[in-house]
Amino acid sequence: MAEPLDFAAPVPHGGGWARGSSHGPRLGSATIREREVPQYLGIDVGTSAVKAILVDEGQAPIAEADVPLPISRPQELWSEQDPESWWQAVQTALDELLAKDAAALGDVRAIGLSGQMHGAVLLDAANRPLRPAILWNDGRSFREAQQLGSEHPGLSRTAGVIPMPGFTAPKLVWLARHEPETFRAVRKVLLPKDYIRLQLTGTIVTDMSDAAGTWWLDEAKRDWSDEALAATGLTRDHMASLVEGSQASGTVRPTIARRWNLRSDVVVAGGAGDAAAGAVGLGAIRDGSAFISLGTSGQLFVTTETFSPAPDALVHSFCHAVPDRWFQMAAMLNGASCIAWAANLLKRDIGELLHETEAAYRRPSDVLFLPYLAGERTPHNDPHARGVFFGLSPDTQQTDLAQAVLEGVAYSFADAKLAFEKAGTVLTQASIIGGGSKSRFWTKIFASVLNIPIIRHQGSDKGPAFGAARLARLAVTGEAPEDVCTAPAVLETIAPDPRLVELYEPRVQALRSLYRSLKPEFARAAHERI
Ligand code: XUL
Repeated sequence: MAEPLDFAAPVPHGGGWARGSSHGPRLGSATIREREVPQYLGIDVGTSAVKAILVDEGQAPIAEADVPLPISRPQELWSEQDPESWWQAVQTALDELLAKDAAALGDVRAIGLSGQMHGAVLLDAANRPLRPAILWNDGRSFREAQQLGSEHPGLSRTAGVIPMPGFTAPKLVWLARHEPETFRAVRKVLLPKDYIRLQLTGTIVTDMSDAAGTWWLDEAKRDWSDEALAATGLTRDHMASLVEGSQASGTVRPTIARRWNLRSDVVVAGGAGDAAAGAVGLGAIRDGSAFISLGTSGQLFVTTETFSPAPDALVHSFCHAVPDRWFQMAAMLNGASCIAWAANLLKRDIGELLHETEAAYRRPSDVLFLPYLAGERTPHNDPHARGVFFGLSPDTQQTDLAQAVLEGVAYSFADAKLAFEKAGTVLTQASIIGGGSKSRFWTKIFASVLNIPIIRHQGSDKGPAFGAARLARLAVTGEAPEDVCTAPAVLETIAPDPRLVELYEPRVQALRSLYRSLKPEFARAAHERI
């Protein structure tokens, strides 16, 4: 039976990650806690929600909060959020945790931050946002990205990836061209989670894994690239200071400590971009550990012990959240958000729709879905691509559409796997995390489309916030990352079904061919709209 894809489902109290709960001794009552039990707080500033999770010494989640975020698309290709809305949502999440377990907040030793990557938060001299933040799935700077790539071909290896419109650097070139007054007023460029750090600690700091997604970082040196900054009219004065994700970046301000019952010496760790934070949550910090992340966006991620750039394959090679490690990633802009979109349009509950779709499933759908609702990064670098249903007939049912959506997203991961092969990395198995991983049915489709076993873990939808809590712990205990970043318990390994592998192969080819045919049409349609 399909499990409901409930993106906001709470992890049960003491949900038992790798080591189970050790929530302090109980002195005759569940509410009495030894005062010196360290707790760690992870906060993930996502695109659709802020998630906060309080984790105890035994790495069991003990309380969490989930606060939805609005997104604004004021023009074709634009995608923006107000940094203040993130801070409001973080405050609401902290209020909820305080109401749930004030004593546990009082035991917090460190906070870790995770966040949506690549967003441009533009601050004036008083550290106030000059305009709404321009997000990772915003495609407006496609011309500037192309220009940066052709004028500075050598920088793509330094920055680990070719410049694509979602990244921070091309956005600043767009700003200089289209909003020159704002560009001149910019004193600091921050990433989304680092705006929350500024509110919590007053420091302007980022971590390597999030800085990695700007296109301004020299990934091998783990330092800003003066050359890449100069290419966009900026200097390192515009940038935050850099720390490793597992290092301290500051301590909470006294007003923050007072308001949420925190100790005055609570450390805020560097944290990570959400991709690397998800990896830390899953324990994917060793060379070769691979996973699929199926959240709002989608990623195929492999940890590497050396910096291994493959910009021509449109694979991102970025610094990891722990020292001396990097990762390769194929980043798709359309993940589980596609099925949420379809369920919303069909006015259906996602869980029910998936359940019916699984019950009706016989073989790969005759309907193809190109999942490029928000354009695509790997492997197309095409902000103009759009979603398409192909092959509809009078017999097409809601479940056919839903199956096509689930398969279309999985097919885009087959393209990601191919991009990895071009980059010299062959996947033989992968774990799966993110809201989409809660669906066993969808995971089965992924296993047969990718033709590799896929491992489902306990609590795997909590990745980035949980990973951030682990980085918080590392920042104050100095433990070895391998000792803390263990893999959560395996629920099951889903093997590919040989019959379906054979049936899916030509469908993936059909999707590729459909995209190739439609690419000029996407460009033409975009030209008319912009
Ligand atoms: C990764 C990416 C997304 C965002 C939003 O490159 O663009 O994962 O971080 O989640």
